[in-house]
Amino acid sequence: MCKLLLGQTLSFSGDPFARPVDEVAHHENRGGVVIDGGKIVDVGPADAMRAAHPDAQVTDHGQALISAGFVDAHVHYPQTAIIASWGKRLIDWLNSYTFPEEMRFSDPAYAAEAARSYFDLTLANGTTTVCSFCTIHPESVDAFFAEAQARGLRVAGGKTCMDRNAPEGLRDTAQSGYDDSKALLGKWHGVDRLTYAITPRFSPTSTPEQLEAMGALWAEHPDCLMQTHLSEQTDEVAWVAELFPQARDYLDTYEQFGLLGEGGLYGHAIHLTDRERAQLKEVGASLIHCPTSNTFIGSGLFDMDGLTKEGQRIGLATDTGGGSSFSMLRTMAAAYEIGQLRGRPLHPAELWWLATAGSARALRMEDRIGTLAPGMEADLSVIDLASTPAITQRAARAETIWEAIFPTIMMGDDRAIRQVYAGGRACLG
Ligand code: GUN
Ligand code: ZN
Repeated sequence: MCKLLLGQTLSFSGDPFARPVDEVAHHENRGGVVIDGGKIVDVGPADAMRAAHPDAQVTDHGQALISAGFVDAHVHYPQTAIIASWGKRLIDWLNSYTFPEEMRFSDPAYAAEAARSYFDLTLANGTTTVCSFCTIHPESVDAFFAEAQARGLRVAGGKTCMDRNAPEGLRDTAQSGYDDSKALLGKWHGVDRLTYAITPRFSPTSTPEQLEAMGALWAEHPDCLMQTHLSEQTDEVAWVAELFPQARDYLDTYEQFGLLGEGGLYGHAIHLTDRERAQLKEVGASLIHCPTSNTFIGSGLFDMDGLTKEGQRIGLATDTGGGSSFSMLRTMAAAYEIGQLRGRPLHPAELWWLATAGSARALRMEDRIGTLAPGMEADLSVIDLASTPAITQRAARAETIWEAIFPTIMMGDDRAIRQVYAGGRACLG
């Protein structure tokens, strides 16, 4: 039987960085979303939806906002337990906190428990799709996909490959990285709602041989995503230049080995040269902005204004556990703050679009998730725009939907998430 969800509705039919907000954003103060068989079949004013679908089972979410579920385009689910670890910059942070924790994922029971805990947290925060790095252990990939599959989620992920500059026990080889990734991809890619992402961690932890093997695997499976990190901190960029003396720049260490292309997801992408920007744009690669991570680890200020004006494809992400929150609301707030530090206040519509349709586009899933429209999969978040006293008193003065939403963007957290639907099924409560 089909369901009719009532509330305020917000969705986008285009990119608010490229077109006027009023043209691309669609808000109904009293709207309805009809879902059937895991898909959205109708969206419109509540009265019209009731009239067109008289047999639908109605759930009234009152004044809460029904949106596409949040899409978190770059995360490390194995870092859940080390989120908010104090005092280190990138390379020391990896060595001190991250690698010791990732070592534990050779144990399938540990990995399974971590995946459970991670998806509990993301769903509680209104996030319905993530694209995750796992660890070098195939068990960590199995745990991730099995848990997402059991919950009916659309996710992407892959085995993180590293064959140097990582501790004993956390290194594979060029050949085993290729073989394990290929086997995992064969097992999970395209099963239910799961997408495999070929995952060389970043150039410092892969030999040229491993990067070449990853490039070969992607060429054999071009419908997979490929995810990695790019130009996050200046020390890291300098290290890459030492490790790859022949490379023109950081991006070239991927480009040379077939790891630059459409479907390539490049996390952080802060300290880019003009050549790198031009190449990324040329192929239609995705740059993933991780604002809470970039401030927490002290990486730098992403050039949202310049990169969107160039027409780059950009997604938004928590980068947990380098990022300091599981919440895409908090992540939007951090993106706003970084925009302010660079002199470009992002509009609430731009922030919301980045967290939903923009990230879906970055993951090449925009025809399935990220917007409320007939034919899209029914992954939705229901958000209370008056979830705390501080937010309520500010939102009470709002005269537009954007003024009503912005206090929740800046001050909201998991308390604002009333319900989440994944493939049409309610996940909370
Ligand atoms: N660069 C390489 N690995 C990582 C990681 O796990 N987190 C972040 N933030 N940057 C990285
Ligand atoms: Zn990352």
